Amino acid sequence: MRGAVFHALTVNQFDVPLVWELMERAEWLRGLDREEARTRLQGKIVATLFYEPSTRTRLSFESAVLRLGGSVVGAENARESSSSKKGETLEDVFRVVGCYADAIVIRHHDQHELDRAARFSPVPIVNAGAGSGEHPTQALLDVYTMWRELGRIEHLTVAVMGDLKYGRTVHSLLRLLAKFPGVRVRLFHPAPLGLPDDLARELAASGLALERAPDLASAIRGADVVYQTRIQFERLGGEVDPNAASLYALTKDHLALLPDHARILHPLPRVGEIAPEVDDDVRAAYFRQVENGLYMRMALLDAMLGGERR
Ligand code: NCD
Repeated sequence: MRGAVFHALTVNQFDVPLVWELMERAEWLRGLDREEARTRLQGKIVATLFYEPSTRTRLSFESAVLRLGGSVVGAENARESSSSKKGETLEDVFRVVGCYADAIVIRHHDQHELDRAARFSPVPIVNAGAGSGEHPTQALLDVYTMWRELGRIEHLTVAVMGDLKYGRTVHSLLRLLAKFPGVRVRLFHPAPLGLPDDLARELAASGLALERAPDLASAIRGADVVYQTRIQFERLGGEVDPNAASLYALTKDHLALLPDHARILHPLPRVGEIAPEVDDDVRAAYFRQVENGLYMRMALLDAMLGGERR
């Protein structure tokens, strides 16, 4: 963004002023008419490479590029359909695709490989979710949603629930929230799905106020934000009871524990951990969060490739 090749691999690359700059840019892009927005990435090509399944994130990035007037080339199911099947390294993929495209949006199964290979890319790399590592653009859109819905990020009490072990959205979100003053986090999760030890240590060192709630009610009572997530069964080796989500699933009855101004977020897809009856409550913000995701991804790509804001 400032400088030659700017990647978005982890939220640790983002400081608070940069998050603000992106949120302001997202607001500005939201206000542009479609015609004007289409001038921003005119003539630019963005490649999307998805080595793991995705619907919404890929479509969200592709829509973001198209709305900014850019073009998309891509490989869905890249693990099977690309030359990685022939044994090509990710660093070579970036060197090659970097000759075709102005930026590369990638979902990959290995955060370490992604971090290492990105150094060889001649164009910006955007991490669209890496294994059970990070999902930085999701965290950016999550805090953007908190700010839009609640007017601030500082001093919020956030209940984070579900699969904290394998959930990459949670890993990025907690790291990002740790940068804002006064945020308090309550964690609630099925026993085997707590935060990875290294992340728990990193967050403790960052000074984030983090506590583990004994039950669902104590986690959400009086919280400003409830951040709900699904269990990542596809990453588990059978160590979790298939009904484990019932421990922390939100129903209409739980809404009474939340203040009127509270907001419920979820990166989606949900698979039963928020009952559909919750959707009609104004505090259910997860579909507005999806829309914010489009504008935040537009903002990131615009900051990387579109140049100065007018
Ligand atoms: C999340 C992901 O892929 O990590 N989904 C998304 O990007 N919207 C959450 C999930 O799969 O549980």
